[in-house]
Amino acid sequence: MTRSSRFGRAARALALACTLLSCGKGSSSTGAVAEQKPAEAPRTTSREPLEALPAVPELDPRVVALGRRLFHEPRLSGDNKVSCSSCHDLAKGGVDAKPLSLGVSGKLGLVNAPTVYNSSLNFVQFWDGRAATLEEQVGGPITNPIEMGSSWSKVLAALAGDPSYVADFAALPGGVTEANVRRAIADFERTLLTRGSAFDRFLAGDEKALSSEARAGYEMFKSVGCIACHQGRNVGGNMFQRFGVLGDYFKDRGHVSDADYGRYNVTHNESDRYVFRVPSLRNVIHTAPYFHDGSAATLTQAVQVMARYQLGRKLSDEQVTEIIGFLSSLSGDQAPPGSKI
Ligand code: HEC
Ligand code: HEC
Repeated sequence: MTRSSRFGRAARALALACTLLSCGKGSSSTGAVAEQKPAEAPRTTSREPLEALPAVPELDPRVVALGRRLFHEPRLSGDNKVSCSSCHDLAKGGVDAKPLSLGVSGKLGLVNAPTVYNSSLNFVQFWDGRAATLEEQVGGPITNPIEMGSSWSKVLAALAGDPSYVADFAALPGGVTEANVRRAIADFERTLLTRGSAFDRFLAGDEKALSSEARAGYEMFKSVGCIACHQGRNVGGNMFQRFGVLGDYFKDRGHVSDADYGRYNVTHNESDRYVFRVPSLRNVIHTAPYFHDGSAATLTQAVQVMARYQLGRKLSDEQVTEIIGFLSSLSGDQAPPGSKI
């Protein structure tokens, strides 16, 4: 990303924050929800500006089933022991719950594993955005020596030598090919949308879906400015931002490594140093530890770090609890409809 477009984005984010905070103007009442308020309840909760998750796309079920099988297939790795699901456990939020992942032969990764749930909605893949599509992303772990440590020739030979895979690949023109492995896994991932969260039910009009704490937390999320970066239907995943806008996170943490350079590793633009794709906050209560470096063990810690380094403020314990109440309402169905994990 070029310097000017990143600054353009930042400016837009700030402009949005300003709109949301209605800088100097009277508070907007658009989309306001009529509700009966107990005395201590927050101001009227506007549904805007976040959006609900879209419907699961209609894809060829045979291709999706093949993708699910490949996602759990340890023969995609060099030692036949590591599958995509080793690090993206679909029963546990699509992550491995470790600060850094363990790959083939117990090799330690460089960054925290993000979830695969809703990743199809992110505008680019990986913390540094180096893959444009899910299809492109698939090749990363398979050939990465510290993740799955394999090669496409080994993978394709293993699959083409297994008659049950040959039968499954018949669903795609060309059979067992690298492009079809990528396509099937990517299509399976496109079905991994965590619909049905309390927050999305609230957006759809169910007044009772959100607790008063979660409502207060959503208002707080907007009023303190989290929303300037964590936006849209994925509550993130649609822009790059610097980690440490109003404080030097990396200096305070120490031991800066190449992995901390983020987007800079892709563009080599000085202005992209320490810049990362803003992560989605959907299901975030299930994906500890947090940040690209896995440094925040708890969500409380992560929210405090964000307030301090992204917004230059300290939140009270009560404010943090409310925000976490809102973040908890973003958890949806972790198994795609009609499928076993
Ligand atoms: C050894 C652990 C490990 C294995 C195995 C693994 N991943 Fe990952 N995955 C990671 C890590 C770590 C990242 C983040 C890497 C980065 O951003 O540089 C990641 C990132 C991703 C992302 C990007 C998500 C986002 O929001 O940016 C997707 C999608 C993904 N992996 C899918 C897969 C698939 C499909 C496979 C199997 C082909 C797989 N992973 C195998 C650890 C793993
Ligand atoms: C200026 C943009 C910006 C603002 C404002 C911001 N964030 Fe973030 N947020 C980011 C970026 C960038 C990351 C990824 C940092 C990293 O790990 O490199 C992130 C990461 C997170 C994470 C960790 C997610 C994960 O899966 O590891 C949480 C939780 C979070 N933000 C919550 C919040 C909350 C709550 C607020 C408001 C108090 C907030 N953010 C404000 C940009 C922002």
